[in-house]
Amino acid sequence: MTLSQFEIQDINQTVLLWLDEVRKRTLIAMQQHLDISIKRDARDLVTNVDRDNEQFLNAKIRSYDSEASIVSEEGFGDHQNNMQGNVWFVDPIDGTMNFVKEQADFAVMIALYIDNEPVLGWILDVVNNIVYHGGPQVGVFANQLRLEQPNNDALSDGIVLLSGARLLYGMFGYDKIAKAALGYRVIGAAGPSFLRVISGRAVGYSSKMMPWDFAAGQVLAKTLGLSISDIDGRPLDMLSSNIVLVATNRAHRDILMLHQS
Ligand code: IPD
Ligand code: CA
Ligand code: CA
Ligand code: CA
Repeated sequence: MTLSQFEIQDINQTVLLWLDEVRKRTLIAMQQHLDISIKRDARDLVTNVDRDNEQFLNAKIRSYDSEASIVSEEGFGDHQNNMQGNVWFVDPIDGTMNFVKEQADFAVMIALYIDNEPVLGWILDVVNNIVYHGGPQVGVFANQLRLEQPNNDALSDGIVLLSGARLLYGMFGYDKIAKAALGYRVIGAAGPSFLRVISGRAVGYSSKMMPWDFAAGQVLAKTLGLSISDIDGRPLDMLSSNIVLVATNRAHRDILMLHQS
């Protein structure tokens, strides 16, 4: 289903207002005591801010869109098993470890897919106060600035971003990929890593991710003509974890070849 420009603009402006509020709430919470708990292990954290942001955003989504299904990280969403209708993705703090340890690279991410088609995505860079937003019907913007498709640089001409833990253990061919790139970095958060590829500051990014980690980034990357798939070149499964690869078209081809070699 294609929404009208009026409907798209209404959704976009509404979500931008929510994100403005979420940013203010997050900045205030950062000045106060953080309630930090461990999920699976000591590297998998959740804070009161993750939970509060998710509850806040999910309530906003439900009151705005009575037909919404929500896929979100911290347990306030739905148990979704298909992509029919309006499916919203929420990552209330992406890069919780960075957030807890006062590194600037963390984000709040929202995406809307309708009948499995990407419609709009939002990645809020909280510290720099920039919302990257857009979709196939409107283009991609950093606040009000329209972004162009990044240069189609090869892997050997740019920086590749990788998940630190998998790089350390040489998984998914990440060691070969890092060696072939001009340089490599570990940012420690999916949203801020996507933003570097979307704005042409990195040629590619790969990590194992859940749907809320890549849903918004995928909307923006596809809209800008970047390549996104799993590490074997297959389309991403929106309802389970994937080894995601987003890159310029040339770097995407380079990385797939290295992964398969
Ligand atoms: C995590 C970060 C991390 C990525 C993980 C994600 P979270 O998100 O984006 O960089 O490697 O796969 O789960 O848990 O901090 O929202
Ligand atoms: Ca998490
Ligand atoms: Ca995340
Ligand atoms: Ca998160």
